[in-house]
Amino acid sequence: MSENGADREQWGSRFGFIMAAAGSAIGLGNIWRFPYLAGMNGGGAFVVIYLLLVLSIGVAVMLAEMAIGRSAGLNAVGAFKKLKGGAWPLVGWMGVIAGFLILSFYGVVAGWTIAYMIKSFTPGFLEAAAAGKAGDLFGAFVSNPGQVVAYQALFMFATIWIVYRGIGGGIEKYCKLMMPALFIILLILIARAVTLDGAGKGLEFYLKPDFSKVTGGTVLAALGQGFFSLSLGMGCMITYGSYLSKKEVLPSAAITVVSLDTSAAFLSGLAIFPAVFAFGMEPASGPGLTFITLPSVFAKMPMGAVFSFLFFLLLFFAAITSSISLLEVCVAYFKDELGWSRAKASWVLGLVIFVLGVPSALSLGGHFPKIAGKDFLDAVDFFSSNVLLPLGGIFISLFAGWVWLDSARKEVTNQGSHSFALEVAWIWVCRVVAPLAIAWIFVKGLKW
Ligand code: PHE
Repeated sequence: MSENGADREQWGSRFGFIMAAAGSAIGLGNIWRFPYLAGMNGGGAFVVIYLLLVLSIGVAVMLAEMAIGRSAGLNAVGAFKKLKGGAWPLVGWMGVIAGFLILSFYGVVAGWTIAYMIKSFTPGFLEAAAAGKAGDLFGAFVSNPGQVVAYQALFMFATIWIVYRGIGGGIEKYCKLMMPALFIILLILIARAVTLDGAGKGLEFYLKPDFSKVTGGTVLAALGQGFFSLSLGMGCMITYGSYLSKKEVLPSAAITVVSLDTSAAFLSGLAIFPAVFAFGMEPASGPGLTFITLPSVFAKMPMGAVFSFLFFLLLFFAAITSSISLLEVCVAYFKDELGWSRAKASWVLGLVIFVLGVPSALSLGGHFPKIAGKDFLDAVDFFSSNVLLPLGGIFISLFAGWVWLDSARKEVTNQGSHSFALEVAWIWVCRVVAPLAIAWIFVKGLKW
C-alpha cells in the first residue's frame, strides 16, 4: 500500500478541482432527470424542497467525503483503512464496486449522445423525427446491438484516455474546458427556447408551484435525485479530495460544487420545457424526453440541426466529465492499494467495465434476458443507485459525525486556522439528520 506521499498527483488549482468535482456531479442525471421530476412533482414547490435538501444534507455529505479524502490522501478503500481500519474499508469497497457498476451502464447511455450528435446532421433524420417517427428511430437504434456497442466502446475509449492522462494533464485539463463550455451551450439553448412562441406554457409546467402535488414521495424523489446528482455515497469526492492541497478551504468548495450542480439542473429545465411546449409536445420522462421528444422538437425549429447537435454535445460533456470520475474511483484504488501504474489501471479497468456494460447495451433491444422483470441496464442502475449509494451515504455521514469526529473538525477548518461558522450544524447533520433521512429513502426506495 502506498502512503500519502509527496509524489501524489495534485490538482493544479482550486478552480481546476472545482471544475472536476462539478464535472463529476453534473451529468446525465441533471439534464434529463431533474427537469422532469420537477415538472411532475409540483414544479416550483419541488425546486424549493430540492434546494433545501441539497443545501443541507447534500453539502454536509459532500464536505464529509472531501474531508476524508483530503486527510487520508488515498483512494476510498485506503482512506478508511488509514483513518480507522476495522470494517470501515468495506464502505470504500462498496464505492469501488458502485463505480464499476454505474460506469458500466452510464457508458451505454453516454454513447447514445455521440450517436445523436452525428444523427443531428444525418440527412433525413430530423425530417423523419418531425413526421412523428422519433420513437421508431430511437427504438431501431437501441435494438441494433452492433451500433450501440460501437458507440459505447467509443465513449469508454475517450473516458479511459482522459483518466490515463492523469489528474492535472487529463481530468482537470478537460473539465476546465468542458464545464465552462457546458454552461455556455446551456445559456444559448435557453435563449433559443424562451424566445419561441408559446414558451410560457413550458415555464408554467416546470415552475408554477403546486403544493398540492407535494407528498412524502416528492421529498423522497428529491433526496434520491440529490444523491445521485451530487455523485455522493461512493467515494467519488473522497478520491477527488485526495488530490487536493492541504491549503484549500473545504466548506466553501463543497458549497460551490453543490451550487453549480443545482444551477445546471435548474437551467436545463429552462432549456427543455419552453421548447417542448412551444411545439405542442407532451413532456415524456427519462430517455424518452431526451432521445425522442427533443429530436422532434429540434426538427421543427429553424436551424434545428445546429440546436440538436449543441444539445447532444452538452449532454456528452456532462456525461464524460462524470464517467471519468467513476473510472478514477476504481483506478485510484488499484493504483494506491495494489501498486498498479495509472496506465495499466486505466486501460485494464476501463476494458473490464466496457465488457461489463455490454449486457446493458444489449438489454434495451431485448437481446439480453431480463432480471426479475427489469431490463439488465435498469437492474444494474437500480442496485447501484438505490442500494449502494444510499448505504454508502449513511456510513460516510456516521463515520464523519461519530467515529472520526475530532479529525473531521480539524480537516474542515484546516487545523483550526479557518473558522467554519456552520461547524456545529454540519456535525449534527452528519450525526443524525443525514443518516436518518437517507435510511428513509433507502427503505422507501427499495421497492423494485
Ligand atoms: N452525478 C452524475 C450524474 O448526475 C452521476 C454520478 C453518480 C457520477 C455517482 C459519479 C458518481 O449524472
